[in-house]
Amino acid sequence: MVCRRVWFPRSRANAFQRKLIAGVAQLVEHFLAKEDVTSSSLVTRSTQEKMVLSKTLQNLESALAGESMAHIKYRYFAQIARDEGYHDIADHFEHTADQEIKHAWGHLELLVGYPSTKQCLEMAIKGETYEYTEMYPKFEDEAIEEGDSNAALEARMQANESKMHAAAFIELLDKAERRFAALAKVEERHANAYRQKLGELDE
Ligand SMILES: [Fe+2]
Ligand SMILES: [Fe+2]
Repeated sequence: MVCRRVWFPRSRANAFQRKLIAGVAQLVEHFLAKEDVTSSSLVTRSTQEKMVLSKTLQNLESALAGESMAHIKYRYFAQIARDEGYHDIADHFEHTADQEIKHAWGHLELLVGYPSTKQCLEMAIKGETYEYTEMYPKFEDEAIEEGDSNAALEARMQANESKMHAAAFIELLDKAERRFAALAKVEERHANAYRQKLGELDE
């Protein structure tokens, strides 16, 4: 599951590079090993829904979550490496992050196929709504329970962002639906015009 082929050859890596790379490998393995990485923003499922999924679908969701996470982490690690002056390492993290996007897309394609723009908007709305109505409020409560005020504040801020994202997607879907409705009327007029012409030919 972990993409080991991207690591530097040992001979080229200095002690710092080796430490950094070992840390990344450990983190990726840790996250991939966790069961609840299966919930992503795009493929949001309830626990009951997950229970009836086939093993392969569950694996695809886990792989999607793992690859997506690896992409985000490598982008973050690239910033750190660049700030510390390790531009070659930063470039490598960014290059690998780009490959992780392709890996994640492969899993996503098998999970959702090639949905229409309307369906994409609906899935995005579902994911963002889940985040601000269920996921982040729960995370905030649990952070408060554990006395982690930073995590609680972060969860509240992220919930607000998710709510804004959901609202923006809803607005886009609304506009798109009005556009589709208008286009349907135009198509109906065209079809009627063709029918009339066809009738005239038959006479
Ligand atoms: Fe990968
Ligand atoms: Fe969001």
